[in-house]
Amino acid sequence: MNNTASAIQVTGLSKTFRGVFGGREVRALDDVSLEVNTGEIFGLLGPNGAGKTTLVKILLGALHPSAGSGRISGHDMAKAPARAKVGFLPENHRFPQYHTGGQMLVCYGGMAGLSQIEAKRRSDHLLALVGMAQWRHTKIKKYSKGMMQRLGLAQALLNDPEIVFLDEPTDGVDPIGRHEIRAILLNLKKQGKTIFLNSHLLAEVESVCDRVAILDRGRLIKTGPVSGLIGTKPAYRIELTALTDDIADKVKAKYPHAQIEQNAIAISFHEARDVNGLIDLLRGRNAELLSVTPIKVSLEESFMQLIRGNVPHD
Ligand SMILES: Nc1ncnc2c1ncn2[C@@H]1O[C@H](COP(=O)(O)OP(=O)(O)OP(=O)(O)O)[C@@H](O)[C@H]1O
Ligand SMILES: [Mg+2]
Repeated sequence: MNNTASAIQVTGLSKTFRGVFGGREVRALDDVSLEVNTGEIFGLLGPNGAGKTTLVKILLGALHPSAGSGRISGHDMAKAPARAKVGFLPENHRFPQYHTGGQMLVCYGGMAGLSQIEAKRRSDHLLALVGMAQWRHTKIKKYSKGMMQRLGLAQALLNDPEIVFLDEPTDGVDPIGRHEIRAILLNLKKQGKTIFLNSHLLAEVESVCDRVAILDRGRLIKTGPVSGLIGTKPAYRIELTALTDDIADKVKAKYPHAQIEQNAIAISFHEARDVNGLIDLLRGRNAELLSVTPIKVSLEESFMQLIRGNVPHD
């Protein structure tokens, strides 16, 4: 695949960390391929240790892959031009504590090749954008976690990047701060920027991302729009006056995934109307139905089921 409309392309990427002092090897990434379209907010979602940070570090040239390749804006990820128009908010970042937020941004702007005047202009603009203008003269050591994340976001935007990598951007940020960061990301998208967001929080990616890839133990399980990806299936609980072994066997034969309970059946379907087939089967066996109740499955539960269903590998 080499689509120039793609902001990021990853093909067959694997990374194995060697065990230290004879320790066990860790396969942090296992044959991962994905594509991020220009102008979209793409979420890499997965539990702790899934390999999200490893993937971003490889894309940004901070780690070498064991196998596979990647392109950023059409450039080989291993070459410098790939990083020319890229911004990065690392996870657990630490900025020099003795600087104020404003000083730090001007200093980093200088390192990114901006003139003093330009760095000052960009810093003022970005501090206002992330809601930190009033704290620009306060030393970073006094910043809260949420303020640090906002400052980190401003830092990631210093060079006016086309593609922004954000590794757990709302980590430690309170709900109001999360809401504000979400608004900033949507605004950046409006400006045509591509955003690659690492997160272990389903709610975070669901609220802001156009598409999501789910990573678990180094493997990509699924990629697509959040709703279609972890879409909750219609599920029901059917109560009967009596559920005989004969009827239970017939139900199991036709619906192997049905859960048989005492005088009740819990089952999910692709489409709501499919429940009629089961009702017909039960009625055909003269079973007496007491109730048919829809079961609510939250997106979070579906996500957990998806992760748990991904069998571990060695
Ligand atoms: N430098 C390293 N040496 C050895 N193992 C590593 C190294 N970096 C990461 N790992 C291992 O690789 C796996 C993936 O780690 P990674 O940090 O990429 O996960 P993550 O999805 O970002 O997790 P989190 O949500 O906690 O940030 C983990 O098992 C981790 O312990
Ligand atoms: Mg991480």
